[in-house]
Amino acid sequence: MNHFDSKAAEWDDNPVRVENARKIAAAIRAAVPLNKTMRALEFGCGTGLISRELFPTIGNILAIDLSSGMIAQLQNRIDEAELKNISARCLDIFTDPPDGPFDLIFSAMAMHHVQNTDALLDRFAALTAPGGWIALADLDTEDGTFHDHFEGFIHHGLDRNELMKKLRVRGFSQTAAITAHTMHKNGRDYPVFLLTARKPAE
Ligand SMILES: C[S@@+](CC[C@H](N)C(=O)[O-])C[C@H]1O[C@@H](n2cnc3c(N)ncnc32)[C@H](O)[C@@H]1O
Repeated sequence: MNHFDSKAAEWDDNPVRVENARKIAAAIRAAVPLNKTMRALEFGCGTGLISRELFPTIGNILAIDLSSGMIAQLQNRIDEAELKNISARCLDIFTDPPDGPFDLIFSAMAMHHVQNTDALLDRFAALTAPGGWIALADLDTEDGTFHDHFEGFIHHGLDRNELMKKLRVRGFSQTAAITAHTMHKNGRDYPVFLLTARKPAE
């Protein structure tokens, strides 16, 4: 059982986490022209806190995560609330990529758990449809105090300006970054950015 499997059942009980997800979802709604024809991918969905906020304004969402425990929690919520336009899948985007392309790829608080950011951005770029959007939320670079006892690889946040440059190199335009929320944890503030960009239409 990995770290996230062990946390999955109580994931949604943390109000700081739920508030963060709501703020990120609101920021995505404000920054991206969502519509009911869009096919979207959520990367590192966890229990689907973001997808469960956005599903009424998107055609359908494929929500993926490496943690089978997280996916099981999301599947329970999909079944209970009959969220017919969200599909939950436990898969590795590097070895078992989903069938694209997607009109929107979004992710929250997951990229800092992926060691090879460049490879992940390559994968996102390959999976984004011409004219499609990307919306990535994560911690700004921090001093390493955000995670209390996390065993496994983590970046101590990510540099939003570096990520914007990396997206432009991969052909994205209309890059923009805002502070979607500031998380308060253990007496400290941790800003969370939302980075959006668009792949030009062919
Ligand atoms: C901090 S949680 C965030 C979950 C959710 N996005 C939220 O905001 O509540 C990070 C999630 O990313 C997932 N994750 C980490 N590395 C991953 C990878 N390589 N592929 C897919 N999911 C990954 C973890 O399993 C975990 O569920």
